[in-house]
Amino acid sequence: MNNGLFITFEGGEGAGKSTQILLLAERLRAQAYNVVVTREPGGSPGAEAVRHVLLSGAAQEFGVRMEAILFAAARNDHVEDVIKPALEEGAIVLCDRFLDSSRVYQGVTGNLAPAFVDELQRIAVDSIMPDCTLVFDLPAALGLERARLRGALPNGSAPDRFEREEVDTHEKRREAFLDIALREPKRCRIIDATLPADDVAKAVYSVLEPFLTANGGADR
Ligand code: TYD
Repeated sequence: MNNGLFITFEGGEGAGKSTQILLLAERLRAQAYNVVVTREPGGSPGAEAVRHVLLSGAAQEFGVRMEAILFAAARNDHVEDVIKPALEEGAIVLCDRFLDSSRVYQGVTGNLAPAFVDELQRIAVDSIMPDCTLVFDLPAALGLERARLRGALPNGSAPDRFEREEVDTHEKRREAFLDIALREPKRCRIIDATLPADDVAKAVYSVLEPFLTANGGADR
């Protein structure tokens, strides 16, 4: 049994997850918690190798099933290589996207059968489920605008394969994330990502506080 804490951050594009993960990590480290920050697709050398194939769109022509299996392969490597060992050491693991992104992007908007996606996730996560999942919620159009602004910055990156899709698709994803949060209320919390970053950070911390308290075991 591990005594770490596994927290995942989910939501559409431009929801500010990465910024909030960094702010939270800083706050927890200041309290002497052992914090591991990671992301998907990627987070381990094997998974990072697959990340490029997925985000460049190189795998797109081979179909959504192929992409879903690649995401799952990357996830399994990440779980075995990084997440499990960190939790066994008692760390708080903050992960930018995890299985819910596959359920939404490949399952719902990729039109893959839920049973197929669920089976892939069962293998990918190898019984490691998040203790808490924060679903960052905002209108798709606003998120895309934010993502575009980020891409337009001098050092910003161009939109990836998934960011290039239509606003309707992104709105369906928003609904699908909210649906997961409603169906799994013990694990999931919805965060209003339209608020200013400072307010989002406060909301994130107050949602997580009970998990930190309950898990007195998280190492510090
Ligand atoms: P990235 O630039 O890492 O992140 P973000 O949008 O979170 O800032 O892009 C990851 C992209 O991959 C994102 O568009 C969502 C997509 N994705 C899936 O389609 N399925 C998955 O299982 C994961 C983890 C991500």
